[in-house]
Amino acid sequence: MPGRIPQEFIDELIDRADIIEVIGNRIQLKKAGREHKACCPFHNEKTPSFTVSPDKGFYHCFGCGAHGTALGFLMEHDHLEFVDAVEELASLYGMEVPRDQTPSAPAPPSAPLYELLGEVALFFRQCLRDHPRAIDYLKARGLDGNTAKRYLIGYAPGGWDTVLKKFGDSDELRERLLKAGLIIENEQSRSYDRFRDRVVFPIRDSRGRVVGFGGRIIDDGEPKYLNSPETPVFHKGRELYGLFEMRQALRQLERVLVVEGYMDVVALAHHGILNVVATLGTATTVDQLRRLFRTTQEVVFCFDGDRAGREAASRALQVGLAEMRDGRQLRFLFLPEGQDPDSLVQSEGAEGLHQRLSGSVALSEYLLTELKAQTDMGTVDGRARLAELARPLLSRLPEGVYRELLLDRIAAEVGLSTARLVDTLQLSNAARASVVRRPSVTGKRSGLVRHAIRLVLHYPSVATEIQTPEGLEDAEQPGLALLLELLELARDRPDINTAVLEERLRDRPEARHLTTLLGQEMLVDRDEAAAELTGSLAGIQRQVHEQRLESLIARADGLSATEKQEFLRLQQNLSAEGDMT
Ligand code: GTP
Ligand code: MN
Repeated sequence: MPGRIPQEFIDELIDRADIIEVIGNRIQLKKAGREHKACCPFHNEKTPSFTVSPDKGFYHCFGCGAHGTALGFLMEHDHLEFVDAVEELASLYGMEVPRDQTPSAPAPPSAPLYELLGEVALFFRQCLRDHPRAIDYLKARGLDGNTAKRYLIGYAPGGWDTVLKKFGDSDELRERLLKAGLIIENEQSRSYDRFRDRVVFPIRDSRGRVVGFGGRIIDDGEPKYLNSPETPVFHKGRELYGLFEMRQALRQLERVLVVEGYMDVVALAHHGILNVVATLGTATTVDQLRRLFRTTQEVVFCFDGDRAGREAASRALQVGLAEMRDGRQLRFLFLPEGQDPDSLVQSEGAEGLHQRLSGSVALSEYLLTELKAQTDMGTVDGRARLAELARPLLSRLPEGVYRELLLDRIAAEVGLSTARLVDTLQLSNAARASVVRRPSVTGKRSGLVRHAIRLVLHYPSVATEIQTPEGLEDAEQPGLALLLELLELARDRPDINTAVLEERLRDRPEARHLTTLLGQEMLVDRDEAAAELTGSLAGIQRQVHEQRLESLIARADGLSATEKQEFLRLQQNLSAEGDMT
């Protein structure tokens, strides 16, 4: 693993990046006052609601809420992962991306492995040309040269040492072949090629580098498929076959299909269905699902209709639940027994598959069907059991609209009100609060905090002009700790801009809320911001005092001498403030 990219470098990169240049290189921007406008690249629209602010260093779409920095734009628009986006942006400005030295022994550089794997993939492609038997096999499976080229499909010749001879001239090179998973060493320390007389599917990472291979036997034989082992550059649970090719082919990905086999991916691509990836012979992992949700809002799993398929679906459901944020969709498509996407598209064409896709079931449907199948819905006991069965699944769902909808659905099935169901299941207090939505004291409290956070985010330099009231550090208002941290960050670096602040907070759980806050229109002007922020902070302090006073009153009988003094002081302060208003 390479070391972490130091935060200071990312700060500097964001500072240096010209967001107008980065975005302007990709879509047509039109200057409008201090900002630039365009039709949003992330949703369909006719009048431009996408604005880019060079001062703040971020873009925002008032239509769909898309929002972010130059880095964020690269991730969303070019479908890059964070590190890749950093590399891309850095290369635009001729900057070298530094890596922190990890204290433990540094991992050996992976560059030679990538290079070797890439060369071997090219070699396999050449071999395909010279082996009509392999070409005929691919043709017989309905593929053509274009598809083979797009996926770099090749052929690993028979014999025990074709690759070994060609790429293993020295001990060092043989060691490298072994590390890359291309040769195998037996107990007698004799080496031989891993892939022999097989059609090979190179597996590429998100940047297009070959990291491993899947190899299919041409005639019948065992094993049907052979995959690269785990290596420093290849992890089955992380990579997705076809991801790179899909992102290359399609800019906008409304949905992505997840299938089981290499052949499914390439056969669908041959029929013009390009939004497809395959897992690598294992169940879908959280890692893989997160990667997909960074690319699209809707993921459709395709499974065989048989028992194994249902089991795989049930595992995917477990993994998927925890990732169901608002706006995301997860669907399940069950194919007729004995069929896979490849065989279906061969017999029914792309149209047939599209039709089947429209019959896929949403995660909520699938979950309910699964649960109902496990209990007798005709009896009261059975219905109660449904709620019981749902409990562990519901507890995996993050809070949000999706969870509430699902709670509503289950409540309706069980015959309870949603609030009663939540009570019955004794889900967390947070879930209860989100269902029983009454305006609460905490709601008002966090309103002020939220307002203050927005002010600092929009006008970071205002932090240097105001004083933070004392005594807020120990208070427990939601978001207050974050507000204080923001103030400190902005004070430490008076030149910090909104984009840098936002990048700093990217990994925090609250980051999503921050994005929402930033997306809201700011009605306060820069020159009113200091007064506004001072006012908000005073309001927050007042709330903190009130809260503290309440807690002292609640224990009025057992107060220590200092607490009694504190009580008197707070009471005086608060009534003095009250007089002034
Ligand atoms: P075709 O028979 O070529 O159409 O393959 P398929 O893609 O329909 O294969 P299948 O549904 O049997 O398997 C799906 C995926 O599981 C493959 O793409 C492989 O990743 C993996 N797989 C299948 N068979 C084997 C095997 O024998 N060994 C290993 N390691 N993986 C396999
Ligand atoms: Mn198949």
